Amino acid sequence: MAKLKIIQEGSQSLRQKSRAVEKINKRITTLLDDMYETLKEADGVGLAAPQVGVLRRVAIIELEDGDLIEMINPEIISRENEQTEIEGCLSAPGKFAETLRPQSVKIAYLNRNGDSCEREGTELLARAFCHEIDHLDGVLCFDNALRLLTQEEVDEINREKEEKEKNADNT
Ligand code: CO
Repeated sequence: MAKLKIIQEGSQSLRQKSRAVEKINKRITTLLDDMYETLKEADGVGLAAPQVGVLRRVAIIELEDGDLIEMINPEIISRENEQTEIEGCLSAPGKFAETLRPQSVKIAYLNRNGDSCEREGTELLARAFCHEIDHLDGVLCFDNALRLLTQEEVDEINREKEEKEKNADNT
């Protein structure tokens, strides 16, 4: 496995539409392995192939419990309700977007064995599915953001949230 370089916002490869994978060969499985190593090192939630300079419809998401979702040719097949949350991107450290996303999303994709899979995600996982699939179409979370935030603003919001939770615990 090899750690790959994460391409930063401003690069043209983040703005292109990635091509579908027609055959899952060693190149694709090695890409998945390398992307996983890259994601772990960067301590992120998800990574899409164009972020490492490969314009193929491949993305991965690692959940907090260590569950790794490897998606080849992922597609959103249904969306439900809405959520507004703050998200960031490994291609733009220190920059954040408040986005409107579906609360729940169902996707279809192929796993590395070529099996057709479906998976439903809510909250963070729903956001991550949308975020990574957007990358495959050259879209970044900042493009349709309700507003953009800096690291300082996000820290402040998190502090306020913590305060509120603390007060709620005391009552
Ligand atoms: Co991203």
